[in-house]
Amino acid sequence: MTTIDLQALIPNNVHLGENRQLQRALEHWQPAFLNWWDEMGPSDFKANEVYLRTAVGVDASGWASYGYTPMPDYRWGIFLADKEEGRKIGFGDHKGEDVWQDVPGEYRSTFRRLIVTQGDTEPASVEQQRLLGHTAPSLYDLRNLFQVNVEEGRHLWAMVYLLHAHFGRDGREEAEELLMRHSGDADKPRILGTFNEPMDNWLSFFMFTYFTDRDGKFQLKSFAESAFDPLARTTRFMLTEEAHHMFVGETGIGRVIKRTMEVMKELDTEDSVTLRKAGVIDLPTIQKFMNYWFSTSLDLFGSEASSNAANYFAGGIKGRPDEAKFADHVELDTEMQITVPDGMGGMKSQTISCRNGMNEVTRLEYVKDCNVGVTRWNMGIKRAGVNIELKLPSIRFRRQVGMWAGVTTTPEGQPISATEFEARKADWLPTVEDTAFVKSLMNKVTDPGKMAAWIAPPDRGINAQAVAYEYVRL
Ligand SMILES: [Fe+2]
Ligand SMILES: [Fe+2]
Repeated sequence: MTTIDLQALIPNNVHLGENRQLQRALEHWQPAFLNWWDEMGPSDFKANEVYLRTAVGVDASGWASYGYTPMPDYRWGIFLADKEEGRKIGFGDHKGEDVWQDVPGEYRSTFRRLIVTQGDTEPASVEQQRLLGHTAPSLYDLRNLFQVNVEEGRHLWAMVYLLHAHFGRDGREEAEELLMRHSGDADKPRILGTFNEPMDNWLSFFMFTYFTDRDGKFQLKSFAESAFDPLARTTRFMLTEEAHHMFVGETGIGRVIKRTMEVMKELDTEDSVTLRKAGVIDLPTIQKFMNYWFSTSLDLFGSEASSNAANYFAGGIKGRPDEAKFADHVELDTEMQITVPDGMGGMKSQTISCRNGMNEVTRLEYVKDCNVGVTRWNMGIKRAGVNIELKLPSIRFRRQVGMWAGVTTTPEGQPISATEFEARKADWLPTVEDTAFVKSLMNKVTDPGKMAAWIAPPDRGINAQAVAYEYVRL
């Protein structure tokens, strides 16, 4: 097992000290990163000590240590999962060959683009969330927000390391650009649309960490299969960190629902107006936020049929999540069915090659994973004796990328006219009023153990600490 050099200016387990040129280049980028964190990271709270976990190893057992640290002193570094000796390429045209320790020339620009796109999302989410600290519903939640933020910062480091180590001057330029684009910036926005959407309330934050971070999980799972071994190893360790982000989302939404159930019982009502007056978020509003964040996250997987996706698979660049569980790892002449619009207001089945359908395969795995949490939330609702079920909309609903882009459908995925969609949109997606209502609940709560009135406390604290632990020293 590799050990992490925690004393180095840049903590790492890649023997950075043995490659002076690379070390110097990264040490040159480091102040720019810290400057970005200072300007674009969480506003305020710079001097406050936060109970954060920091990576101290890369093995599954006990990889992190917990302690108080002001965020600007967080030990951002470069941590790759251990090398698997004799690892072979697991899929595509190069299946069975040795994995690559450097990028083959023919795939250089493709890898660069993919790494930059992944890297761009990491600081983007920190920028989107930079004001949320001011309205945190508890110290526990404030700490979780900051944990997610510092780890997204570290994920940027993970991608920048690859750019510096394997892409020469182009890579160094890209690394600088990653700090220049900003979420929502009119001139230099982040690359992907979802990462330019404003994030001004905690319900959206929980939806983002549940649905959008989970897209990240599936991208990383695909990269974890890559023939380019350093990419596979770095994304494997990122996945270890990422799990907490989705935990924050799943339990966050679960706690919002739990609190709503309590008030529904207390007041013996399902009426949204009454519940809103009582200061909790009614289930139809939660459903609308789900519809919004799920559909926007689906777009991140790309088009249903994609020759790029086929090339990534063929070249060993990007596999399917958990590639080993598929029967055929080459998919040379295999086919699959997808559902597409028929151009006459209906839909039809279309046959495409499996290689072309890789985005769709990954998207469907993602949907399955999303449903796990929804099932748990519904169990909570049922236990409370309420006869309402939350439901993910169809993958055809409100798409802006792929075959269904711009085709108006019901949440069940039935194509309807644009006029009908407009008329019913307010039942399916958050309205200006819905968002304003959710925002009206956002007030900072800072007493240890206290929660805002719209959210239940978590079942347990972080790292076996009490819920009432002072997670952030204000
Ligand atoms: Fe990340
Ligand atoms: Fe994340």
